[in-house]
Amino acid sequence: MPAQRDLLFINSSQLITCAGPARARRGKEMSDIGILKNSAVAVSNGRIAMIGAASDLRNAYTDADIIDCKGGVLTPGLVDSHTHTMFGKARFEEHEQRAAGLDYMEIAQRGGGIHASVRDFRQRSEDELYSMSVERLRELAAYGTTTVEIKSGYGLSTDEELKALAVIGRLADRHKQRIIATWLGAHEIAQEYRSDSDRREKLIDMLVHDQLPKVVQQRVARFADVFCEPGVFTVEESRRLLSAARKAGLGVKLHADELKPAGGAELAVELEATSADHLAAVSEKGIRALSKSETVATLLPGTMLFLGRSKQAPARELIDAGAAVALATDFNPGTSPTVNFPLIMTLGVSQLRMSLAEVLVACTVNGAAALGLAAEIGQVAPGFSADLALFSITDIRELPYWYGARLCVGSWKAGAPCHPYENVTKLQARFPEVVPTG
Ligand code: NIG
Ligand code: FE
Repeated sequence: MPAQRDLLFINSSQLITCAGPARARRGKEMSDIGILKNSAVAVSNGRIAMIGAASDLRNAYTDADIIDCKGGVLTPGLVDSHTHTMFGKARFEEHEQRAAGLDYMEIAQRGGGIHASVRDFRQRSEDELYSMSVERLRELAAYGTTTVEIKSGYGLSTDEELKALAVIGRLADRHKQRIIATWLGAHEIAQEYRSDSDRREKLIDMLVHDQLPKVVQQRVARFADVFCEPGVFTVEESRRLLSAARKAGLGVKLHADELKPAGGAELAVELEATSADHLAAVSEKGIRALSKSETVATLLPGTMLFLGRSKQAPARELIDAGAAVALATDFNPGTSPTVNFPLIMTLGVSQLRMSLAEVLVACTVNGAAALGLAAEIGQVAPGFSADLALFSITDIRELPYWYGARLCVGSWKAGAPCHPYENVTKLQARFPEVVPTG
């Protein structure tokens, strides 16, 4: 591959660095995002090389390609540490069914929900799933997301889960964003196991003794995850599965306490999981356990919003108790069909009562930590990968404020474009009558 040309990002109105320790930020540490003005960024060989005055950097990097931020805001590329991007068809019929009074679990018990996605997924070829995912990843990149964790979990049988992970692997090799694969073979009890009398035992045995060894041997996933929820996998089953995964060398994640409190957060801490995700129904004990652990609490407010539930995860209690909180989209066809990560930031402020700084750290540094990547991405600091996003605003507080808008005008992974750099037209220019200019 030809060596990458050096890059100089100049003329941002604000550079958000999130610079600091290369680990999850917890509690009060989440309040510092390092806003720099009049600072340019030099990128060499895909890494942040220097931050400083544009004139100094121009002298030091005379051959660099210039990227003119034209007064926009430059941030670390957003890190979406929890998605189910590897799916086939959409499930919009369930949206209305819930409005009419059916709940998520009832729909699943009637063979809809994840089961519907599984039936559909099994019909599709790898090529088809690959092209569908590429389109979806492009949309994620268009909102500033440069790293995407993708879970399997709509295949459920060993062959179909390996198919999902193979497609995720192809995306990781060929696609522009950074892709991290998670094995979620325990996403639901597959229909073929529901009709069998001692099915649970057989299913867990199959996952532990057949599916997991193949996933590990083929090196197709970095993490293992389980949907631990009453009506799906119990705490004991999740413990058995994830202990085996950990022993086999995978990192551990957990869908924990999403709809009902069941001790998922406590289990995640016991297993030294990299993250415990959802937590809308986490108990006081779970909050305390998370606050004393290294496990990142990944909150997914888009899911609760879309399911029409009034109770969001207790972000304030978690942060005030000293936990490390990340935010993610949970992009999936059932409970969170959105690619708009900044919209999740809006929910972070409006529904989780997080500050702007906390929200930004949650979507960058702490997202990176939730993927074990805090030393590589999530901050704009010398030595880190040049994963960046440029937004057409002049103040970072506008990012969660103009909710639902697509404000990203360029995103880069290791200095290479993920979303093509577009003309920056600042919001002052777009809405002159509503934005104070002072
Ligand atoms: O995170 N909770 C389990 N998995 C997804 C939903 C998947 C689906 O409904 O397709 C979630 O909400
Ligand atoms: Fe999920």
